[in-house]
Order: sequence, then C-alpha cells, then structure tokens
Amino acid sequence: MRVPLIAGNWKMNKTEGEAISLVRSLMQGMRSFSGVEVLICPPFTALSQLHKLLVSSPIMLGAQNISDQESGAYTGEVSGRMAADFCSHVILGHSERRAYYSEGEALINRKIKAARRSGLVPVLCVGESLPERDSGRAAAVISGQLLGALENVLLTDPGEIIIAYEPVWAIGTGRSADPQEISDLISTVIRPVLSGLWGEESSQGIRVLYGGSVNPINARGFFSQPEIDGALVGGASLDAGKFLSIIEKTQ
Ligand code: 13P
Repeated sequence: MRVPLIAGNWKMNKTEGEAISLVRSLMQGMRSFSGVEVLICPPFTALSQLHKLLVSSPIMLGAQNISDQESGAYTGEVSGRMAADFCSHVILGHSERRAYYSEGEALINRKIKAARRSGLVPVLCVGESLPERDSGRAAAVISGQLLGALENVLLTDPGEIIIAYEPVWAIGTGRSADPQEISDLISTVIRPVLSGLWGEESSQGIRVLYGGSVNPINARGFFSQPEIDGALVGGASLDAGKFLSIIEKTQ
C-alpha cells in the first residue's frame, strides 16, 4: 500500500547547466519504471529551469531546506511559499544541517509547520551518530528527534509527511546500515512513535526511507525489506546511471 519513493539529495552540487544535463539523462532513462515515485532535490538555483524541464515528467522536485519564517527581513533565506513555486517536497532535519548549521528540534519543528502551510511535503531526516549508536542510545535519540520535530504537527493524510532514517555514520562513508537492523528499527521505534502521534492506521501509511551510502549494489537489499519504503540517496544521485540503477532495484 506504500508506494516506494527514491529520492535524490544533490546537496551543494551542480550548477544550473550541470543540473539540466543530469536531469536530461535521467528523463531518458526513466521511461520504463512503474510502481515507484522519483524525487530529486537539487540546489535552489536550479529549481526554476528544472521545473520547466520536468513539467510533463513523473520526476518530482524537492527543495533541500526552507526558512521557518513566512517572508520579510531574513537575508539569505528562502520561504516555503517560494520553494512551492517549483517543488512538492522539502528535506528537513538533515544531519548536515543539524551538525553544520546548529539546527535543533525547535527550529526543525517550525520548518516542518512552515512546509505544511506552504503545501510542501516534508522529508524529515532522523538518525543517530556513531557514539550514540555505540552507547546504545540510537532508539532514544531517534524517538526524541521525531517527537521534537513533529510536536503539534497535524496530519490529515499519511502522504503529507515522509520520514528518512539516515544514521549519521552511514552518510557519505560507504558504510551502510544492515537492512534487517533498519527494518527492526523502523518497526520497533519509528512506526510506534508515529502511531503515538497520529494513530496506528496513519503510521502504517507513512513512508519511511533509508539513507546512507545507498548505491546500485546494496540497494536491492534495502528494498527487499517491507518496512523500508525507498531511499534518500546522496552521492549516487549525482550520477544518472547510478541513480537509475537504484530506481530499477525497486522493480
Ligand atoms: P550518501 O548517499 O552520499 O551517503 O548521502 C546520504 C544522504 O545524506 C542523503 O540525504
């Protein structure tokens, strides 16, 4: 009942021209897939042109961040409403924003609410660091991140939010988490928290992705777990061949 989603987080990569050529390659390879949704999250600067290019394509566009504010004197910020001109989704709570830009649960919570007000579907990232994992605190950390970011967030449909479990130690390291362990964590920690917030039925409808060193070789292992509803792909989403190969592993 949950349609798999393969999402690409391009991070701070690709000029407008480079983004257009990557998307052209993706569009050429996309024709044959069914039963899977595809989302790419390029930098803000490429969104306008890519939106035009993708107008009749099934590939969806997402932003990598938005402001928690609606409009006004916030130099350098981009509002949810501005992003919604081009995007259907927005990545929030990514560990790189938590680590390098000091984003905490209260700010992420305000951003989630700003995204919802703008009609954007938040892709909320949660995940433990290596010391947190090694000291047996992964479940507590992830629950705390979910409860903090989702406090007083109202949901009328499970499609209005997506969770991405991205253990920090697996991001960009080539060291991915074990598919069975991820699956267990989703069913024993993530879904119960979602169920507590919005009820059992909604929690079963919310997609939970895995992210962290997903590549064409290990992708099928994640997608064969019924609890893992797709992937949030970083490095491999910058290469059309690799990203398409990951999408193909859902088939
Ligand atoms: P990598 O796939 O490069 O490990 O990055 C994962 C990620 O951070 C996606 O948001």
